[in-house]
Amino acid sequence: MKIAILGTGSVGAALARSIGRTGHDVTVSSTNRSAAQELAGEVGARLAGTNTEAVAGAELVILAVPTGVVASVVGELGHALDGKVVVDVTNRPTPDLEGGRTTSIAEELQALVPDARLVKAFNTAFASRQQDPRVAGMRADAYVAGDDQDAKDRVMALAAAIGFRPIDVGPLAQARTLEGMAWIHISLQMRHQWPWQSAWKIVGPTGPDEG
Ligand SMILES: NC(=O)c1ccc[n+]([C@@H]2O[C@H](COP(=O)([O-])OP(=O)(O)OC[C@H]3O[C@@H](n4cnc5c(N)ncnc54)[C@H](OP(=O)(O)O)[C@@H]3O)[C@@H](O)[C@H]2O)c1
Repeated sequence: MKIAILGTGSVGAALARSIGRTGHDVTVSSTNRSAAQELAGEVGARLAGTNTEAVAGAELVILAVPTGVVASVVGELGHALDGKVVVDVTNRPTPDLEGGRTTSIAEELQALVPDARLVKAFNTAFASRQQDPRVAGMRADAYVAGDDQDAKDRVMALAAAIGFRPIDVGPLAQARTLEGMAWIHISLQMRHQWPWQSAWKIVGPTGPDEG
């Protein structure tokens, strides 16, 4: 599959490394040209000059840019994302602790590009685990939310290929919960000085694919 990764920071680099090992055809782009160039060389990815160039031939696009710019990145790409699987990995830097959230970043992005196939995935895993999803002898869970089943299936297959146990968590609105899960995991690292290496995992019995 042709995959574009936009952003080459912690998440972009981690996913470029793990996806790069699977044999998928990866293109990276970033405002950080030197980091993108170095990463492309390291993982054997193509280097695109712009986000538009990166997504042009891609079937699946991973948004690994900062939360503060993701909406403008998606808005600028607009119809270039039509029909493509677009994976939102972003999280809010601060949570909404006042009552239930009635939307998510992923749903807001879907509203900007209604003809793209938005999927929320990988946001609950730290970059350390995106690069190496094996933890405590188990595959970390990759929770995948989306309204387009084929798009979700492709992301689940990608998650499995890089070593996660993929779990379909339902419609894109479940991204609200996934963003909350990411926040509590982040806050635990800070509260207890954990080393940002832990991962979400629902332990059995959960069916035939428990490991
Ligand atoms: N870090 C984690 O463990 C983790 C885990 C799960 C989810 N997330 C979420 O994933 C998102 C990315 O996090 P991160 O830690 O990877 O951030 P990061 O390390 O700051 O990396 C962001 C990357 O995006 C680039 N960028 C900025 N604006 C861009 C644009 N308009 N077009 C293309 N590239 C652009 C940055 O380049 P410059 O250096 O030039 O700014 C940098 O390479 C955030 O929403 C975060 O909440 C992070």
